[in-house]
Amino acid sequence: MDDNPNEKGIHQWSRVEQFPEHLKKYWFQRFKIWEKYDQGIWMTEDAWFGVTPEPIANKIAAHIGESAPTEKTVIVDAFAGVGGNAIALARSGRWERVFAIEKDAKTMKCAKHNAEIYGVSNKIFWLTGDCFDVIGRFIGQTNVVVFASPPWGGTEYGTDYVFDLTKMEPYNLDKLYKSFTKICKEVVLYLPRTSDLNQIARYGQEGKRLEVAHYAMMGASKALCVYFGDFNFEVEQEP
Ligand SMILES: C[S@@+](CC[C@H](N)C(=O)[O-])C[C@H]1O[C@@H](n2cnc3c(N)ncnc32)[C@H](O)[C@@H]1O
Repeated sequence: MDDNPNEKGIHQWSRVEQFPEHLKKYWFQRFKIWEKYDQGIWMTEDAWFGVTPEPIANKIAAHIGESAPTEKTVIVDAFAGVGGNAIALARSGRWERVFAIEKDAKTMKCAKHNAEIYGVSNKIFWLTGDCFDVIGRFIGQTNVVVFASPPWGGTEYGTDYVFDLTKMEPYNLDKLYKSFTKICKEVVLYLPRTSDLNQIARYGQEGKRLEVAHYAMMGASKALCVYFGDFNFEVEQEP
């Protein structure tokens, strides 16, 4: 698929000379981010900072799929971006419906196009808008899981030794937790690898496990996921 985007702000960079200098490190990682990059992936400049690399997105999709209660058949990706996670969730085949919410229309165009490249664009229901409004339509539906990879507040989040989730911009942990647990108990948040675990632990339920998984690439953690609600990860029994 090589139809050109033809819209300002949406790019299909196929040669290093075209690629913005300040993003150069992503050029060298492009096939680690998208295995099918050269089949015509569309990106915005901002999307490079936030897209979930394909191997990690696949691993997360597998973990959510295996551990979510079986009666959960619908998953909502609240911050779909250019489609990294939504595509992986749709490809997993675990869900009857995958919804992808994104407020930026150009980013959404990229996501739809990228999903076509991966052959799953018809398996995803696309909702352009603010997820905190749009998600209201799922209230009362008992079969839903929410996945959310929010913005982390620019590129500086990595410099803190421990990342303060009360200061995450534009939406902090409390806002995300309260907004999404109104919809369902099962909420997965994709957060910076240095996130303050004590702040996360405050949202744990009495007597219940709260699962946190690091996702690594090339020997280093890239991010972590917090699994709120009744996810069932097999626990190794002590001898
Ligand atoms: C970190 S990126 C998501 C990346 C995505 N997981 C991927 O792999 O492409 C966060 C996205 O959330 C979008 N966004 C920010 N606030 C939003 C909101 N209130 N509702 C919906 N989308 C929002 C941004 O435009 C951005 O594309």
